[in-house]
Amino acid sequence: MHRSVVITGANGFVGRNVGMFLSKNGFQTTSLVRKGKAVNFGKKITSETLSENSLVPKIRNADALLHFIGQGKQTVDSDYEKVNVGIARNTVSLCKKAKIKKIIYISGLGVDKFATLGYFISKYKAEQEIIHSGLDYTILRASYMIGNDDPLSENLQRQVKKGEIVIPGSGNYRFQPIFIDDVSRIIIKSVTEKKFSKKIIDLVGPQIVSYNAFVKEFSRGKVRMKKIDFERAYRDALHDKGSFGVDDLSIMVGDYVGNHKKLADLTRMKFTRYETVLKSRGLS
Ligand SMILES: NC(=O)c1ccc[n+]([C@@H]2O[C@H](COP(=O)([O-])OP(=O)(O)OC[C@H]3O[C@@H](n4cnc5c(N)ncnc54)[C@H](OP(=O)(O)O)[C@@H]3O)[C@@H](O)[C@H]2O)c1
Repeated sequence: MHRSVVITGANGFVGRNVGMFLSKNGFQTTSLVRKGKAVNFGKKITSETLSENSLVPKIRNADALLHFIGQGKQTVDSDYEKVNVGIARNTVSLCKKAKIKKIIYISGLGVDKFATLGYFISKYKAEQEIIHSGLDYTILRASYMIGNDDPLSENLQRQVKKGEIVIPGSGNYRFQPIFIDDVSRIIIKSVTEKKFSKKIIDLVGPQIVSYNAFVKEFSRGKVRMKKIDFERAYRDALHDKGSFGVDDLSIMVGDYVGNHKKLADLTRMKFTRYETVLKSRGLS
């Protein structure tokens, strides 16, 4: 039986990788993207706000909606409340109108009700919109997802071209990279297996790695790593300069690690090590 999913944010890093993976694995995909944005799998529908009624008949009764719209940096015109919370609310409403019973949402590792970071607060509020919607859901709280075109690798690649990679602060803060194809397999399970129903799960890879160690592996030790004072990195970010945003830096030093064992027990998957991803994708 063919499964059908609707994907928001389908032209972003997660959307295009998961969309392509699902498409190759027999899923019918309908992507909701903004005007002028392309996807090279499945069907595409243009939507600016996800609240247009014309969308409803085109996506009715899909098995699940994968909500991948999100932003990790805010501006005067596009703040977290509007995008991360407001569009999640529109998505819930769209699912109800189109009789789509399940939402899969990528939240962030470190998100909880005690969060004080603006990005995390917006992700928590989006989670709450989904949890209290009455719909079924799987919420995946992600560490960095890596593949051949992920935002972190692209950022590091740009720095490699300039001849040095900047490490804000000590670089000893840790994270748990997870391969985007493993994420796609988890999403397929979340759509098809009952045990993922109404679950909030850490989306974390099998290894806890420091930023220093990851960057070293990424650059194969061939590019100079330049430590800069965290205060300087933060000031640059506040002035929209440098390689990281204010909230990127906060998440980095937050040293967020999660429960990989719970994910491995639930999925019964064998996960890809980050060194393998970097090598196989020509990233290291
Ligand atoms: N990448 C990671 O490692 C990571 C880690 C933790 C959580 N996440 C979460 O995972 C989700 C997907 O991340 P990603 O890496 O794929 O991000 P991405 O590459 O930046 O893609 C973001 C997507 O959201 C869309 N979008 C942004 N603002 C929008 C708006 N105002 N209206 C409509 N669409 C809008 C973008 O569409 P346009 O192209 O039209 O702008 C794009 O399709 C996000 O919620 C992110 O917070 C990602």
